[in-house]
Amino acid sequence: MREEVQRRISDGCPGRLYRRSPIPMMGTAKKGVAVTEQMPPAVGRRQLLGISISAAGGIAISACGSSPPKPSPGQPGAPSAEEVPVTPPEDLMREHGVLKRVLLIYREGIRRLQTGDQDPTQAVNSGAGIIRSFIEDYHEHLEEQYVFPKLEQAGKLTDITTVLRTQHQRGRVLTDRVLAATTGAAALDQPTRQALVQNMLAFIRMYEPHEAREDTVVFPALRDVVPAKEFRDLAETFEDEEHRRFGQAGFQGVVDKVADIEKSLDIYDLSQFTPT
Ligand SMILES: [Fe+2]
Ligand SMILES: [Fe+2]
Repeated sequence: MREEVQRRISDGCPGRLYRRSPIPMMGTAKKGVAVTEQMPPAVGRRQLLGISISAAGGIAISACGSSPPKPSPGQPGAPSAEEVPVTPPEDLMREHGVLKRVLLIYREGIRRLQTGDQDPTQAVNSGAGIIRSFIEDYHEHLEEQYVFPKLEQAGKLTDITTVLRTQHQRGRVLTDRVLAATTGAAALDQPTRQALVQNMLAFIRMYEPHEAREDTVVFPALRDVVPAKEFRDLAETFEDEEHRRFGQAGFQGVVDKVADIEKSLDIYDLSQFTPT
């Protein structure tokens, strides 16, 4: 089976073969992915997860372009019944994970601004930039374009989608302010620091319940109102839009940027959050 999967995946891209291991084996590999050659930046979410479960632990994946041709059912290389596609709610929830990590960056920024610890301005500015490009311009665009209308057309959760749309707009105002306060080399005066803290606190306060409600109520309801084929097509639309906006690296590239910001603030090491 393993050889069959390796052959199938590497057929369209000879010379590129990647092996996933449960144990990180190389310093530069991420998420436990040890590479047998140079890992390209273009391993999309669906490419990573759309791999036979039976091959887990010793599989090979490759990426040789943004959208390799998809074989028809029954043809060599066609998806098997064992494959697990990434669904639109899973896509959106992962993006919420990015949002949550930037909220943690904001929290550390607030702590430093309030205590006078090392200046977090650049890190906060970078975090706000990701909120603008990845959350507001991309993720919320998907919600407003493809998710909320489906529910509204079905007459479901319309009271909630109305609030969520308003919160998207208010969030943009707060992000405008955070970006404005943190852009430029000049040190922040005290009123600006206080206003920046208040704007980040307001953003966190709104988005924690916002994303939690979407994860637990809105996204699960999407499955009820969207037919199965349309659901699968939506997944493709999300993936295409992701790579159109964020290039080959897509979601993973954004996660890497978030990790870099966390490292600059010394909040990347997960173990520091474990109670003793
Ligand atoms: Fe939203
Ligand atoms: Fe969202």
